[in-house]
Amino acid sequence: MTEILILGKQGQIAWELQVTLAALGHITVLGSQQLDLANPDKIRAKVRSIQPDIIVNAAAYTAVDKAETEPELCTSINATAPGILAELAQASQALLVHYSTDYVFDGTKTSPYLETDLTNPLGVYGASKLAGEQAIIQVDCPHLIFRTTWVYGNRGKNFLLTILRLAAERSELKIVADQIGAPTWSRSIAEATSQIIAQCHHDSRSVMPKARLRQHEVSACAERLRQRSSVRGLYNLSAAGETSWHGFASQIVSQYRSQYPDRHLAIQNILPIPSSDYPTPAKRPANSVLDNSKILADFGVQLPDWNLSLSQLLARWQQI
Ligand SMILES: NC(=O)c1ccc[n+]([C@@H]2O[C@H](COP(=O)([O-])OP(=O)(O)OC[C@H]3O[C@@H](n4cnc5c(N)ncnc54)[C@H](OP(=O)(O)O)[C@@H]3O)[C@@H](O)[C@H]2O)c1
Repeated sequence: MTEILILGKQGQIAWELQVTLAALGHITVLGSQQLDLANPDKIRAKVRSIQPDIIVNAAAYTAVDKAETEPELCTSINATAPGILAELAQASQALLVHYSTDYVFDGTKTSPYLETDLTNPLGVYGASKLAGEQAIIQVDCPHLIFRTTWVYGNRGKNFLLTILRLAAERSELKIVADQIGAPTWSRSIAEATSQIIAQCHHDSRSVMPKARLRQHEVSACAERLRQRSSVRGLYNLSAAGETSWHGFASQIVSQYRSQYPDRHLAIQNILPIPSSDYPTPAKRPANSVLDNSKILADFGVQLPDWNLSLSQLLARWQQI
């Protein structure tokens, strides 16, 4: 059976992966308590003991502003650890699936970013994530790197949960309107990840022992192994459409109100402000929109429009 190791246990994407990857093999999920990615020796020992066929690294140092004062810790988790995971994957020809971010860009492009566009991170977090991508690509193990953006879901720290909390408490909010992106539901990222892994990874262990296979079956087995070993790629993976943080906040409140008319929200006004009125330690890109045509062309995968996913998540607010 395919052995799948998911890193990031409590994280937004990792949480959803535990559901979407369950059909593809036996899953081991580790959080920072079980494996500290800042400790290279522990990474090597733990991964070797699990012997995964697929490593899905959804763990990261994601505190974008705090990273400015903790560059070493951020870099060891976001850049050094992925490089070590890549070396381990290369040694066993496991597939490494890794997530990265639009923060590798400076946001000055006036159209959606392609995978091939020039990177120029604005802060420590973005630079560390870029270094993580480069470390994996340099080792050249079987890998898939998915750059995503503006992730939200029903757990963890994210913009949706913050807005719903503040909208219940305050009558007015000021939200940045000059940064654009595509809010992306963690579940749709996890579902796409599962579909793509299923396309790339053909389980060479679950077939019968070679001695009991006919010649054409041996060839098919070798072909599956060859396919898995040849997987390489960096892909944008984000929701369709685009909006500003202000547009996202406004939609959250209006959709929540229309889906739950009996529940009270104190909010009356959501005012648009420029980024300059909301200074943060780390600068954010003004344009975070990613062009998703490569992943559609190679895997036939396309995430729904951000607005549709938001309504689907809110509709199931009580159950998930
Ligand atoms: N959130 C976004 O808007 C966004 C946007 C673009 C790209 N991404 C990328 O998408 C991926 C997943 O993001 P997410 O939003 O799901 O992350 P998240 O909710 O912030 O979760 C990150 C996870 O990483 C784990 N982690 C942190 N430090 C660790 C350490 N030293 N050792 C082991 N695990 C550690 C945390 O574990 P504990 O909870 O146990 O500490 C946490 O569960 C990341 O690669 C991120 O860079 C995120």
